[in-house]
Amino acid sequence: MLETKNLTVRFGGHVAVNGVSCAFQPGTLTAIVGPNGAGKTTYFNLISGQIAATSGEVFLNGATLAGMSPSARTRAGLGRAFQLTNLFPNLSVLENVRLAVQATRSGPHWRGLNLWSIWSDHGALTRRAEEVIDAVSMTDKQHRPVAALSHGDQRKVEVALLMALEPEVFMFDEPTAGMSLDEAPVILNLIRKLKTDKRKTILLVEHKMDVVRELADRIIVLHNGALVADGEPATVIASPIVQEAYLGVSAASVQAQAEGGKA
Ligand SMILES: Nc1ncnc2c1ncn2[C@@H]1O[C@H](COP(=O)(O)OP(=O)(O)O)[C@@H](O)[C@H]1O
Ligand SMILES: [Mg+2]
Repeated sequence: MLETKNLTVRFGGHVAVNGVSCAFQPGTLTAIVGPNGAGKTTYFNLISGQIAATSGEVFLNGATLAGMSPSARTRAGLGRAFQLTNLFPNLSVLENVRLAVQATRSGPHWRGLNLWSIWSDHGALTRRAEEVIDAVSMTDKQHRPVAALSHGDQRKVEVALLMALEPEVFMFDEPTAGMSLDEAPVILNLIRKLKTDKRKTILLVEHKMDVVRELADRIIVLHNGALVADGEPATVIASPIVQEAYLGVSAASVQAQAEGGKA
């Protein structure tokens, strides 16, 4: 179980994440919503260790992650989608994903120079990388350099890298942002499939309410860095306060959406 306790970060005079206490259970998908600048990405950065908390702590399965680097947190099971800058732009999709697979499989097993085992593992690593690439529908482009891909395809590769790490906790920050209408379903289907694995904890920052409504078991709302609502999707989405103040939707359109949703 992932848990944050009183997690807070201050940038100068601005409190970007303000005392957020929240626990996320395996087998659940929690959507994190809130207006731009609410602190959603910063909350992820605090969990993954990209930035240090001013106060408060993150726990994974009861152990504090205080003082752990982002890569140590990744090894502990926290999976954050890679940014494009983490990719090797001149390597192919397959080579990038294979490196990620290799990173997760490297352990005592890799010590020593056993050429035969390196050679035979290479095949296993490639097969696993191909599986993950297939899951994001990128097989036809797997030999292209990442730099030559469209923005949407690069985002799929980011998700493939995250899959390759086989984390316990998946953090998706607007995974379909910048994708075309026909690209987004590939990622959403993948998240749907991940959800069926009850050992996984999924956190999803997503603006599209129809997506949130369908995928989330729970919604938390951040506003000015603070957690202001937490509950079942239907309840949180329908709450007029959340609709008007935090999602910038008028009460009338909420009503229309609710009626449309039932039809
Ligand atoms: N590294 C940083 N230094 C200073 N301010 C930051 C930094 N990162 C985020 N912020 C500020 O923190 C607030 C929350 O930002 P962010 O977490 O990106 O919001 P969201 O993802 O919900 O849109 C914003 O006001 C943003 O300008
Ligand atoms: Mg953000």
